[in-house]
Amino acid sequence: MSFDTMNLAPTILKAVNLCGYTSATPIQEQAIPQAIAGKDLIASAQTGTGKTAAFVLPALQRLTVPSTAKGKGPRILVLTPTRELANQITEAVRTYGKFMRLRTGAILGGMPYFEQQRLLAQPVDIIVATPGRLIDHLESGRISMARVELLVLDEADRMLDMGFSEAVSTIAAATPEGRQTLLFTATWDGAMEKLAKRLMKEPVRIAVAGKKATLEQIEQRLHTADDMQHKNRLLNHLIADSGMTRAIIFSSTKRNADQLARELASRGHSAEALHGDMTQGARNRTIMNMRRGKIRLLVATDVAARGLDVTGITHVINYDLPKNAEDYVHRIGRTGRAGATGIAISFVSFRELDELRRIERYIGQSLPQQVIAGLEPARPLQQGSGRPGYNNGRSAGGRGAAAPAGRRFSKAPSFRSDARPSTGRKPYSDSRSDARPSTDRKPYADYRSDARPSTGRKPYADSAYTGDRKREAKQQGGWAGDVRKTEAFRKTEAFRKARWS
Ligand SMILES: Nc1ncnc2c1ncn2[C@@H]1O[C@H](COP(=O)(O)OP(=O)(O)OP(=O)(O)O)[C@@H](O)[C@H]1O
Ligand SMILES: [Mg+2]
Repeated sequence: MSFDTMNLAPTILKAVNLCGYTSATPIQEQAIPQAIAGKDLIASAQTGTGKTAAFVLPALQRLTVPSTAKGKGPRILVLTPTRELANQITEAVRTYGKFMRLRTGAILGGMPYFEQQRLLAQPVDIIVATPGRLIDHLESGRISMARVELLVLDEADRMLDMGFSEAVSTIAAATPEGRQTLLFTATWDGAMEKLAKRLMKEPVRIAVAGKKATLEQIEQRLHTADDMQHKNRLLNHLIADSGMTRAIIFSSTKRNADQLARELASRGHSAEALHGDMTQGARNRTIMNMRRGKIRLLVATDVAARGLDVTGITHVINYDLPKNAEDYVHRIGRTGRAGATGIAISFVSFRELDELRRIERYIGQSLPQQVIAGLEPARPLQQGSGRPGYNNGRSAGGRGAAAPAGRRFSKAPSFRSDARPSTGRKPYSDSRSDARPSTDRKPYADYRSDARPSTGRKPYADSAYTGDRKREAKQQGGWAGDVRKTEAFRKTEAFRKARWS
């Protein structure tokens, strides 16, 4: 669908055209008309599919009609979990609102109060805020919510996970009753339902993501690592690939992120860390350097997992697997954005087998394992360790004798015996609350079928690794682990060249 048919003001359309968007993405197609019609929305869609514009464009459309409410404070308030996201959305507002006279700004922690107070002391069109700092301003009476017409919660589930549930409710309660609310969330559970009930009136539900939580254009791979030294050797091998234009390497702790970034920098790579213990100034500088292409390798904690949109990230590497399965989907979603292709590589050590199982259950597929010649794991994961589709022992050249099924990892539950995802949170489409859709959404039966990701999984013999990928590599004279010889790699190469030439 073209943006032209959405009744957007010419000034907005002009800016959208300038961005080079030829048509609306599915979430934009569904959300924008409903939002412009004034409906409350609960929306979810896959990573990198343009959710920001799906709420910013209707917000801007609202601003084309002057406000009747007098006083100071924002007309539109966007809440988002991280400071990086608040800055990014503020930039998006400026981009899409390029041809409008807008007063807008970000209210986020770690930055001086003075400028924020100055912004809030006047009528403002759009404020993008993190809940913590906004509550600060609210409690000290420095922000008036009386003019708020539209409240947007981006990454609402993440805000709840971060403990902002009360803050979000308090902020919403301070805004006028008659305001419109748009809620974007990746997952849906009891806490989210409660929040939605408190905040929204007869919301329309839009779930574009469907069954598949991850994007098809992201090629996912897995490497087994014996220990940290092995992970480092694998990483060194992978980052030597000139096809890796820009990558985010996710580490589980701030300390390790720092350490790894330092090590990579000392080896001559342009690498920097990003985590919550850095000053906001340093965080902003790092993101800016990444956007400008001055950093090739960003070593980050999950602070970079959600929402971050940096053009041209060709690879995401999970140096450590995330504890929370849904974070996997968000992490890898930093690549393959806006229709581009991308590669997501995860390292799994024996300590992380539970995490791996949770992730595979959550995304409903096995991650195809790859082995790099000369960097084979000493103890390959075995078929029968509770992970269908695993075939690493063979390609590892026989190193590491096979253990009887279930013995080496006897603590781990059987993969199939646990049909229910144990991620803490369920994917949106897996929600029971979808059982009674208030709109013309999919019927219950369809949602139910999404609730069992383990059914419909490919059998072992049909796995991507044992089948097509290996055969293809062989045909081309390469060994199974040589990813540079695969079709997917060539496609990515072609994309990279097209994008950066
Ligand atoms: N209609 C469109 N056509 C082409 N590109 C688009 C379109 N809409 C948005 N984009 C681009 O897609 C990229 C991803 O957009 P955005 O960050 O809004 O995704 P998202 O759905 O919010 O992702 P995430 O779930 O990771 O937060 C941005 O670079 C944006 O410029
Ligand atoms: Mg987003």
